[in-house]
Amino acid sequence: MKETVAILGAGTMGRGIAEVAALAGHAVWLYDPLEAALERALTEIRTDLQKLAEKGRLVGTVDEVLARIQPTQSLEDCAKAAWVIEAAPEQLELKQELLGQLGQLNPDNILASNTSTFSISAIAARVKHPERVLGLHFFNPAQRMKLVEVVGGLQTAPALLQRALELMQSWGKEPVQVVDAPGFLVNRVARPFYGEALRLHGEGIAKEHIDWILRGLGFPMGPFELMDLIGLDVNYAASTSVYQAFYGEPRYRPHPLQYQRVAAGMLGRKTGQGWYTYPPGPPRPPTPPPVQTQDTPLPLIVGPNPLAQELRARFRHTENAAEAQFVLDCRVKLERKHDFFENLPVVSLVWGHSASSVQAEFRERPVAGFSLVPPIGEQAIVELFAPLSGANQALELAQTYFRAHGHHTLLLPDQPGGVGFRILALLINEAVSALAEGVASPADLNRAMRLGTGYPLGPLEWAERLWLKPVLRALEGLQAELGEDRYRPHPLLRRMVAAGLETFGNLSLAPYAKGDLQTREEEAV
Ligand SMILES: NC(=O)c1ccc[n+]([C@@H]2O[C@H](COP(=O)([O-])OP(=O)(O)OC[C@H]3O[C@@H](n4cnc5c(N)ncnc54)[C@H](O)[C@@H]3O)[C@@H](O)[C@H]2O)c1
Repeated sequence: MKETVAILGAGTMGRGIAEVAALAGHAVWLYDPLEAALERALTEIRTDLQKLAEKGRLVGTVDEVLARIQPTQSLEDCAKAAWVIEAAPEQLELKQELLGQLGQLNPDNILASNTSTFSISAIAARVKHPERVLGLHFFNPAQRMKLVEVVGGLQTAPALLQRALELMQSWGKEPVQVVDAPGFLVNRVARPFYGEALRLHGEGIAKEHIDWILRGLGFPMGPFELMDLIGLDVNYAASTSVYQAFYGEPRYRPHPLQYQRVAAGMLGRKTGQGWYTYPPGPPRPPTPPPVQTQDTPLPLIVGPNPLAQELRARFRHTENAAEAQFVLDCRVKLERKHDFFENLPVVSLVWGHSASSVQAEFRERPVAGFSLVPPIGEQAIVELFAPLSGANQALELAQTYFRAHGHHTLLLPDQPGGVGFRILALLINEAVSALAEGVASPADLNRAMRLGTGYPLGPLEWAERLWLKPVLRALEGLQAELGEDRYRPHPLLRRMVAAGLETFGNLSLAPYAKGDLQTREEEAV
């Protein structure tokens, strides 16, 4: 006989979680103070189960699964359950009160919260025996999303976390264990995906271009179309909450453009207007041009990093400087960019600086900037930048060259980093900071970001693909040119590069996450 589960709140998340638990064979109490919410939840669960049955993916019948879900408006009923999962509205007092009450009614049951933003330790504060309180953070829609963050608060019993991981696995989920830190793991590490996209848009780059470039990198959606899907209000609330919880840390600062749309009631798809208008919704990315490399100008590709290697492996080029028509300089550090091939136009990677800064190094020579991020997929868009002095022969060469290799090019306002790389670099930096704070292990971090957000690679895996050193040098360059703390490379990244480490491997700082002196002393003995 499987343990009974109670779900508090029959809204979007509660009904999804109830369905998953019932499908896994548990008897479920589904609680909501609103009768209409319960009725609606049962109707929606039935519809969803019917769809599963039509696809042949339901074990048993719709009625059998539904019979396991018992709607209730009594907390006493819920208190009988071994597991209580709270999915009530996102208000701290309400969650404390609900779980506090349940804890009074039954001293033994396990009390979980599906909160997105509040500290589990804070929710547990009013519960008798807080060691039985934990976070079970499901993703929307809970029926389909595999990821569940299993969050341990300061007082949560370690053995309970293990039980919760096993329970989630038995529900067909892929749980990851994370510590109780603002935004937990996914909502925190994903912040730059939106925040930096907004910054770039604020610097004059069209939102459509940002969305196309990110799709070209393999993300399932661009940041603006994704904000429209999530709801600009929900996304803004998440940004604000993480920013406040970190006491105004600059890299989490929400953007005025976000507030402006929310205040105007342009909340995304649900209001018919967000960053885009619905219908028709966002414009589709352009189709890549056909590959025609016969007469393309030949570059000399300079630089040791994986981008240079991938370009050499797949793009036409020459190793003979006398034959080259231009230089494709993939080196990241600006200080290295003035010392060779005096007569050739230069198309320079801009990961750590703007095209205008490179132009200053090369004086009168034609210079353009480019950015392209490995692994280079078929849909990858090449970002091109003209220095402030204007378009020139280097820009024309770059356009011809990349188009001939089947890649659409976009000429963007000059700024350091490029769109795709700048967002990715900040995702990586944020992932490193979460790792350094022991929020999760490297493997869990990568897995959670792939499962929870659909990123093509986990940010730490991506850093390894790009090499840690170029990522660090680029962040240093961004911080120098943009003059802002939000680009500050995390000290752990610096330490890893200084130590010559190239992979995150099993580097895990989790045991020290809570600064637990006892653990350290025990280990020292
Ligand atoms: N929607 C998401 O994408 C998402 C994702 C992960 C986590 N969450 C979290 O899940 C929780 C629920 O979010 P949601 O989107 O399902 O909200 P929702 O508004 O769809 O549902 C909340 C439900 O709780 C009910 N409710 C009101 N007062 C209650 C009370 N005192 N006790 C129990 N239930 C009560 C409401 O009637 C409603 O049916 C929140 O903490 C939210 O932060 C939401």
